[in-house]
Amino acid sequence: MRTIAVVVGSASARSINRRLANALERLGADRFSFVRVQIDGLPMFNVDLSRDPPAAVVRMKGEIASADGVIIVTPEHNRSVPAVLKNAIDWGSRPAGQSCWIGKPAGILGASTGQTGTAAAQQHLRNILSPQQVVIMGQPELYLHWKEGMVDSEGLVVDDMVKKRMEAFLERYAAWVERVGVKRAP
Ligand SMILES: Cc1cc2nc3c(=O)[nH]c(=O)nc-3n(C[C@H](O)[C@H](O)[C@H](O)COP(=O)(O)O)c2cc1C
Repeated sequence: MRTIAVVVGSASARSINRRLANALERLGADRFSFVRVQIDGLPMFNVDLSRDPPAAVVRMKGEIASADGVIIVTPEHNRSVPAVLKNAIDWGSRPAGQSCWIGKPAGILGASTGQTGTAAAQQHLRNILSPQQVVIMGQPELYLHWKEGMVDSEGLVVDDMVKKRMEAFLERYAAWVERVGVKRAP
């Protein structure tokens, strides 16, 4: 079974994207082994620290590097990716030549309370990850305009249409991982 690192781009304990990630992991439990990667405790990126990074950074990079793929579940902040996610991507990308992101087959999805459902954030995320040679699945795109009751507190997807879209996403992502091929650190 492939191991997939799941990154949630929110520091909030009540994050709707954390609930969405819970639901995705539950739906995909028969296909993948998921590892949730904590990014909200990372210090602000500072290149001065990158040669001898803090333990939380080493842990995060190790979890990403040893996974077969990455799924990012992100909110949208001011039409872009939240700072906590950009910070994690920056940490993962350094030192030069030691990025944990290179070659990872990736899927991205997200929910927001706004009508655009993270479309702008996901577009920015594609721009940011491409130079890191992350190989991002193009379709299906999964932007969700969050409505309370869509996912229950146990991580069960209540809305049938959303559930179908998430299942389709997981099916296509499983094929994407095999197509791209895994590039896992030893
Ligand atoms: C600083 C900030 C900026 C936001 N900007 C957007 C935005 O550009 N588009 C949008 O749809 N929602 C925006 N929102 C609303 C978020 O969709 C909403 O707070 C959502 O719950 C964030 O996801 P989370 O609960 O997983 O952290 C913003 C929220 C914050 C706090």
